[in-house]
Amino acid sequence: TKAVTVPSLLAMKERGEKITMLTAYDASFASMMDTCGVEMILIGDSLGMVCQGHNSTLPVTIDDVAYHTACVARGSKTAFVMSDMPFGSYATKEDAFKNAVKLVQAGAQMVKIEGGAWMADTVRFLTERAIPVMVHLGLTPQFVHQFGGYKVQGKTAEGAEQMKSDALALQAAGAAMLLLEAIPASLGKELTELVDMPTIGIGAGPDCSGQVLVLHDYINVFPGKKARFVRNFMEGQTSIEGATRAYVAAVKDGSFPAPEHCF
Ligand code: KIV
Ligand code: NA
Repeated sequence: TKAVTVPSLLAMKERGEKITMLTAYDASFASMMDTCGVEMILIGDSLGMVCQGHNSTLPVTIDDVAYHTACVARGSKTAFVMSDMPFGSYATKEDAFKNAVKLVQAGAQMVKIEGGAWMADTVRFLTERAIPVMVHLGLTPQFVHQFGGYKVQGKTAEGAEQMKSDALALQAAGAAMLLLEAIPASLGKELTELVDMPTIGIGAGPDCSGQVLVLHDYINVFPGKKARFVRNFMEGQTSIEGATRAYVAAVKDGSFPAPEHCF
């Protein structure tokens, strides 16, 4: 199989083939996902919760993400590797660049930041310096203290309009992809149609260009509360590889996410 690239992901959106993405934090899981045909592997700052046992993503450092990125990159041959910029690592565009370089040098092919139109200058600064950027909109977990919990976003007409104008501003600044978390399925569809770049959804409905789930969620080992958008893909399977293949198949044929996973 050929390596997944930024242009090949864009081509998938254009021909309507669903993109599959999962999170991983080490080489063995990355290699298994790669073998199962997962197109993108995210080293999420979710590692703060699922690996480190914190109750938010806020304690995660750039060195933590760089370490796990290097582990994943060693295990992935064809999947596209992308890493989260953790809380506090992109407060200025210069900080963002310096920290993103650490992730790219550890093996990331794209970095992800949380935020709306106010991040446009940072997106442009990184993109012009050869670092592709994905922007995370909707339920952005680093904003947990502002949101007052992990809540569905974009439910009001005003909130939905704001997200659309943010998406366009970020695209104009050079963003390569959008991550949409916990928003109404109808808004996920509208945003996907509005922008040229591929969208990856988690609790954003079936009409995004692709889907993502956290490793510990889809194999049902996370001890905490399960979000509505999570499906336990171990059900009916006898191996983690089987669950991963079931996830890929369900995203590709559009049966995941189902209405019960959507807002
Ligand atoms: O940190 C993470 O795992 C993420 C995904 C849920 C998109 O940002
Ligand atoms: Na994240």
